[in-house]
Amino acid sequence: VNAVELIERKRDGGRLAPGEVAWLIDAYSTGTVPDYQMAAMAMAVFLRGLDHEELAAWTVAMLESGDVLDLSDLPGVKVDKHSTGGVGDKASIPLAPMVASTGVVVPMISGRGLGHTGGTLDKLEAIPGFSTSLDPDRFRRILETCGMVMAGQSETLVPADRKLYALRDATGTVPSIPLIASSIMSKKLAEDLDALVLDVKVGRGAFMQDLNDGRRLADTIIDIGRARGVTVTALLTQMDQPLGREVGNASEIAESLAVLRGEGPADLTELVMALGVEMLQMAAIEEPRSRLERAVASGEALERLTEVIAAQGGDPRVVENPSLLPSARHEMEIPAPVSGVVTGCDARNIGLGAMRLGAGRERKEDSIDPAVGVTVHAKVGDRVDSGQPLCVVHYNEPGRLDEARPWLEAAWVIGEGAEPSPLVLERR
Ligand code: URA
Repeated sequence: VNAVELIERKRDGGRLAPGEVAWLIDAYSTGTVPDYQMAAMAMAVFLRGLDHEELAAWTVAMLESGDVLDLSDLPGVKVDKHSTGGVGDKASIPLAPMVASTGVVVPMISGRGLGHTGGTLDKLEAIPGFSTSLDPDRFRRILETCGMVMAGQSETLVPADRKLYALRDATGTVPSIPLIASSIMSKKLAEDLDALVLDVKVGRGAFMQDLNDGRRLADTIIDIGRARGVTVTALLTQMDQPLGREVGNASEIAESLAVLRGEGPADLTELVMALGVEMLQMAAIEEPRSRLERAVASGEALERLTEVIAAQGGDPRVVENPSLLPSARHEMEIPAPVSGVVTGCDARNIGLGAMRLGAGRERKEDSIDPAVGVTVHAKVGDRVDSGQPLCVVHYNEPGRLDEARPWLEAAWVIGEGAEPSPLVLERR
């Protein structure tokens, strides 16, 4: 098989045979197909799509690029959650220990930041020492002792997604339904799950800007799961404005800890609860909401996260003392230019601003600055007076602040009155 021939065929709207897809993904994972050819292929897929059979072959090839876990001997129902990517979306971090505290097993393989969106792995790595690169034996041991684990694609776990994810991030090929669906499901199927709850983000800060695209993405993922015996339900949730108040890496860990202390912002807490209820229902646990509330009120969920942080090499003292997390050297307020009611707080602009500060990657090889980010003070429906801070920017390099500032200043619209739209838009 010849990579150029496959790229040209997909570019021209042709189909790839399952064996050709398998060859391509394997050759890319092992380095025979270089990044530049895979980048061209990703763009061809972005523009032309994959049909049902191509998508199934693509997902399985990604899954089989590394080890597939066999957790069948572990007692308990294994349920995970995955988000299609948002701004300030740290829901997985409080959710996993809350759900694990109720006895549901949560083997989680997450992703890094993509484009203007943040990634669970980058956030977790803001905890000093925390390792998200686990070999299958360690993954399993932590899961057995803690009932949950939070790892990433690695040399051994879904290596094809690790490479392709970073490549897509740097080549404008992220918002593609088949590429997102196969990326998510290759990781989830490698976890040997019983069930998955999908959080499909829709809106300005999401890859799917309209509800119909969100539905198509959800249904595509549900179908892939069904074909492999994994039950998937999806919540379509609003991502026009950031979730919670913090957009950054260390600051999102601190906000996640606040949720586990029962002191999190209302929207984030509500989303975590809604996703948690779905997860517990899939494990046939009764009174799911009160079980989750008890896990928080009793301190059990916080305790669970502390154990996982220690098991994954992180400094567990951050739980009691979030000031041990990295913090930026400088801060600056962006004031409201006029008085009124916030009618728009654009998650995409805020995500791009945070990325320019160093919270995300502009190029594949960029490193993340865990300390920088944005604290949002005014969300849709809030009344502000002229001069009052819309957000506080936490930065280390003044040059980066200059790049971020125009994005952030353009994020807010102040008008006459607005109600935030509902958080959960639909269930599938
Ligand atoms: N999350 C993933 O894991 N992959 C994507 O492509 C987008 C969101």
